[in-house]
Amino acid sequence: MKGLTEKQIQKVEELLSRMTLEEKIGQMNQAATSLVGGFDVPFEELIEMMTDGRISKEEFEKIMSTAEQDFHEDEIRSGMIGSFMVQDPVKANELQKIAVEESRMGIPLIIGLDVIHGFRSVYPIAIAEAGSFDTDLFERTASMAAKESRAAGVAWHFAPMVDVARDARWGRVSEGPGEDPYLGSEFARAKIRGLQGDRSSTENYVAACLKHYVGYGAAESGRDYNTVSMAMHQFYNNYLKPFAAAVDEGAMTVMAAFNDLNGVPCTVNEFLLRKTLKESLGFPGFVVSDANAIRECVVHGIAEDEMDAGIQAALAGMDMDMGTSIYVKNLKAAVEAGKVPVAVIDEAARRILSVKMWLGLFDNPYVSEEAMKRYETLPDSHRALALEAAEKSVVLLKNEGSVLPLKKEARISLVGNLAQSREEIIGAWAMSWQEKDCVPILQGMEETFPNLKYFPCGGPEGDISMNEVIAAGDWGDVIVAVLGELVSMSGEASSKADITIPGRQRELLEMLMHTGKPVVLVLMNGRPLALEWEYNYVPVIVEAWHLGIEMGHAVARVLSGEKNPEGRLSSSFPALTGQCPVYYNHMNTGRPGSKSKFTSRYLDAPLGSLYPFGYGLSYTTYEYSDLKVAETEDSLEVSVKVSNTGERGGRETVQFYMQDVTATLVRPVKELKAFRKVELEAGETKTAAFTLPKKEMGFYDNDGVYRLEDGLFRIYAGGSSKDCLMEEVRIKF
Ligand code: NOJ
Repeated sequence: MKGLTEKQIQKVEELLSRMTLEEKIGQMNQAATSLVGGFDVPFEELIEMMTDGRISKEEFEKIMSTAEQDFHEDEIRSGMIGSFMVQDPVKANELQKIAVEESRMGIPLIIGLDVIHGFRSVYPIAIAEAGSFDTDLFERTASMAAKESRAAGVAWHFAPMVDVARDARWGRVSEGPGEDPYLGSEFARAKIRGLQGDRSSTENYVAACLKHYVGYGAAESGRDYNTVSMAMHQFYNNYLKPFAAAVDEGAMTVMAAFNDLNGVPCTVNEFLLRKTLKESLGFPGFVVSDANAIRECVVHGIAEDEMDAGIQAALAGMDMDMGTSIYVKNLKAAVEAGKVPVAVIDEAARRILSVKMWLGLFDNPYVSEEAMKRYETLPDSHRALALEAAEKSVVLLKNEGSVLPLKKEARISLVGNLAQSREEIIGAWAMSWQEKDCVPILQGMEETFPNLKYFPCGGPEGDISMNEVIAAGDWGDVIVAVLGELVSMSGEASSKADITIPGRQRELLEMLMHTGKPVVLVLMNGRPLALEWEYNYVPVIVEAWHLGIEMGHAVARVLSGEKNPEGRLSSSFPALTGQCPVYYNHMNTGRPGSKSKFTSRYLDAPLGSLYPFGYGLSYTTYEYSDLKVAETEDSLEVSVKVSNTGERGGRETVQFYMQDVTATLVRPVKELKAFRKVELEAGETKTAAFTLPKKEMGFYDNDGVYRLEDGLFRIYAGGSSKDCLMEEVRIKF
């Protein structure tokens, strides 16, 4: 494995030579705290039991109040656990001490956790941060998260999530970098550099875990965990791409996805795990299952029982079992019965031990007292990074009549329950944040705008207090309505069949519109929403996502104009839910949608997306000119002029796309090939350029063969996937 010294490699081999079969299998087992009392089941199952009515809410609460936590100390002591999920550093040290000082081999645990968009400092959810198109930012937020979590004993992040996601109904679009494989790959690479790159001290880096390998984002009809069927050219050109990029960047671990891909669950998919990931891509680290996923292979109907599921998973190349204990319970017998070669166990244990060695866990297994106290108060530099990430991720969708930016002295009516919430700014999958660190929108707005009145009125859930709206009378100069989704409406197991603004919030908007005051709609949500109505009637729309702990300041700075918005959409927004999946890099079809009836369109929906990938306004305007494409032997040299034609400085996201016009397989109408952030003063013009190596102009066919085919190509440059200049060029490879 790259990054290990000869001595460390020998140490791994020496350990392996002294380990029993059980101890090696123990390394392949990841456990988490479970609850005991009443029912001896994992916490997730308890929640499920309550949700599906097997126990009542009262029974659940009773169990919770009397339950004790089981940290599986005896199993750690006997070498039956190689990894643990825990986030309390004191507990982490206690468990680590048992592993290191009381188990026969003294092998440290690798402690892993879901650190998806920040640890103590929570940054924007990934779909939002990706829209900053800022790879340097992606890297810095990852690096900060690594440092914060390592100070709490967490050396392994179950991140980055790099699933290409084109269907906004899928709740987990929030967790990944959006719909585009190129942006996803750049995001993935930067996250790997940030998480794993600073190895100057073991306190500075963690092992990343690419997930969910692979195709999870293509769940049929956007319903979480659903089956995935896709042509292999889609697999190679789109869904595999960010994983391949991150493996190339050095990612240390990979998590297999829950879904089946073309009929075989990823958990037991030898083609995916052994052939593609480990053999073709040369992935040196270890693969972990998703939670409970090995057991679920029985439910999928691919394994007869747990033993069968464990055997299939191990043979397929699944190195670590998350949460079922199926490996520790069954693999020894399977090896003895000749069903699993011992070499498979050796390989898995070797991979896991190598990652532990790479993390420095053998030399530094514990968290120091000093480290535990380091972030008692969040340092200013951490807050500053959270603010930078938050404000760079805000997307201005509409600004009719230039209502924004608002003057500081403007009389503002701030509306909506979400505006005062601390937890709703955090977003799905954040576990280690503290309420005291969170700046809600209300706070940010009050600090910035002295003439502000607040009306909670209503939100995603529950009633709207119409009376409050009617009775207010004086609405000041402008209404800022903070509406959208609760955090619980996106993320895992949160798919939706209707992605319009939920509840009665549209009614509330209508009432606010009737006041005659300009309405600024600030959206807080974890997925692209279907905004046709808002697009038609509300003059100003700001997509603010779930921006993390500094959300309040970021929103206030954008609304006041202290920050000129620069965020773009990393996922297309449909007009109506029924258009999902809608994405910019689609195939043309033989009858591309047009006004004519017999074309690929809906009778009752507009053509294409409402807001396309790459779209976002600012308080200035940009113009593109002079797109040039010059051919050299190995590449195309592409350049375009960008002018700031407005009255203030800003940062434009220049996007370069390509289309392979005729090929032996149909190709997307556009594919992102590069992007550049360009800082421009008012009136200034700069040239943005990039080199497109000819070897990157090809595509994979259905057999996974990469093809470079001569012919006509179109090169595009512009400020969004819809709005571009174009040049044609004929290439002979
Ligand atoms: C299930 C999720 O799919 C995955 O993303 C997460 O990392 C694991 N559970 C562990 O919490």
